[in-house]
Amino acid sequence: MSYRALYERSIQERDTYWAEQAARIDWHRPFDQVCDYHQPPFAKWFVGGQTNLCHNAVDRHLAARPDQAALIAVSTETNTEEIITFAQLHVEVQRMAAILQNLGVKKGDRVLIYMPMIAQAVIAMLATVRLGAIHSVVFGGFASHALASRIDDARPTVIVSADAGSRGGKVIPYKPLLDEALRVCSHPVEHVLLVDRGLAPAEMQSPRDVDYASARAAVLDAQVPCEWVDATHPSYTLYTSGTTGKPKGVQRDTGGYAVALASSMDQIYCGKPGETFFCASDIGWVVGHSYIVYGPLITGMSTIIYEGLPIRPDAAIWWSLVEKYKVNVMFSAPTAVRVLKKQDPDCLKRHDLSSLKSLFLAGEPLDEPTAAWIGEAIGKPIVDNYWQTETGWPILSLARGVDPSLKTRLGSPGIAMPGYQVKLLDDQTGEELTGADQKGVLTIEGPLPPGCLQTVWGDDKRFVQTYWSTFHNKLVYNTFDWGIRDKDGYYFILGRTDDVINVAGHRLGTREIEEAISSHAGVAEVAVVGVADQLKGQVARAFVVARDPARVADAAGCAALEAEIMQTVDSQLGAVARPARVQFVGVLPKTRSGKLLRRAIQAVCEGRDTGDLSTIEDPSALQQLQAAATT
Ligand code: PRX
Repeated sequence: MSYRALYERSIQERDTYWAEQAARIDWHRPFDQVCDYHQPPFAKWFVGGQTNLCHNAVDRHLAARPDQAALIAVSTETNTEEIITFAQLHVEVQRMAAILQNLGVKKGDRVLIYMPMIAQAVIAMLATVRLGAIHSVVFGGFASHALASRIDDARPTVIVSADAGSRGGKVIPYKPLLDEALRVCSHPVEHVLLVDRGLAPAEMQSPRDVDYASARAAVLDAQVPCEWVDATHPSYTLYTSGTTGKPKGVQRDTGGYAVALASSMDQIYCGKPGETFFCASDIGWVVGHSYIVYGPLITGMSTIIYEGLPIRPDAAIWWSLVEKYKVNVMFSAPTAVRVLKKQDPDCLKRHDLSSLKSLFLAGEPLDEPTAAWIGEAIGKPIVDNYWQTETGWPILSLARGVDPSLKTRLGSPGIAMPGYQVKLLDDQTGEELTGADQKGVLTIEGPLPPGCLQTVWGDDKRFVQTYWSTFHNKLVYNTFDWGIRDKDGYYFILGRTDDVINVAGHRLGTREIEEAISSHAGVAEVAVVGVADQLKGQVARAFVVARDPARVADAAGCAALEAEIMQTVDSQLGAVARPARVQFVGVLPKTRSGKLLRRAIQAVCEGRDTGDLSTIEDPSALQQLQAAATT
């Protein structure tokens, strides 16, 4: 079947198509209805069916592949490599599930996971869904304030964490950040389960804190069966940034997610049972959830979880793993490739890459030179894919598992994937743009396909208001990305329509960074914008009005306050959110009604035309900013 025909079927014969796809996973109880969309925009998939994510990722492979590697945990930070087979993973997950149960976790409870890239992080995720509980993984690079706000929103029974992570050879203690978060948050957390890697001293607070190794030793023979849950039962929440300072908990179901991942692994990533998948993301991001953990394991593939940098000990490290573990499919982000491009080109030639079929890249725009360079260097197809935390799997890509002859078009992530009714709308009128090469807002007609967010955790209203209410009288899902489509249906992504920025593939909200900066006593006002950067795609830049102008009267004063502000961001949100520069101005450019002119600030920083400024309150503000931006 041609891809076009398959895609059309997924839209025209939606329920038949997805019922067929659902056969890719195990069901404890078959579903009665494929899609219930009687309450738009809330879509319920596989209603009446019961299943379990952990069963599909682990237990169901025990018969056919017990001794195949399930997890390959590699750390170039601690110089360790550990292979865990499906049979061993089954044992370890049950032990972890028993520990969580002993700590009071029941179906529907939340388990917050704040972990570095170690096997126990994946084991904790699988154990949580095994119990029918809901995990909420918080990226290990986030600091105490970011962690505290997520604890208060998710209200977990237990937090699973570790003494420390490590990055570039530098130990990053997690426990003090967690302790501080627990001190400032208002939700009382009953227990912290701590994996002690022996990297940093961790002060244990009894009886709240429990040592994983001792708890595990007490449950070595644990047998904890999977809790069968409704297909619509939430499996996890994952926080993501938007236009407000408060991150949203993207809530995912169980059955729809498993089906969508199984489908995408075959149709898009061309991963086969028994093969090896290497996704160099982090479990704290959606790419890690879908394509380090659940996608490959549901498919019966071995998956590599990698702690370390792509250039340490040298830039050949990834390719040495490809050779050693005969990696068949690889997944990374454009920034990592741009980092590799700056290294010794010989690193790409040292290893046998014959097992590798393709390299997938996602998370940020893939520029043509980067795509062309890596494609040439490794001699493999490079496949872009565009999606979001909210969707859980690609909206746009190439389904080469359906039609291997589908061609990439440099600069385009591809065409619409099955089930996604992608439409470009005029941002002013909301009218659909049906012609070629017209720029519009990229939207998706409901129901969103299986695997996409069900709602915002604990806030249905916010789900509807944020994503479905942009256009008057039109209920469509807004991606908040600009796009154009060429005559052949290939889309091109032109950046966000909102205040979300993308630094090295990490999605950050400028408002969150502004709030962190505002908490510094020396700051009266602040504006944060994302500015184009050759390596990271974008970087954050902050413009601050100091409370006391005398403090920033000379270069030394500016440098001192800049360092303090950066430190504030580091300790509240984490270094990942630290602006590249903090610069000082007397006044920020605003409209007469007091709204920050972010687009104009961004344009100044990127040396572009600022566009219409007729609403600006004080025209000298932009000149000041221009002067500051170029120092
Ligand atoms: O702006 C788009 C950009 O990243 C946003 C989603 O980020 P996140 O929620 O972290 O999910 C990443 C999942 C891969 C999108 O709204 N984005 C993601 N992939 C691409 C992209 N922009 C251009 N090309 C892509 N392939």
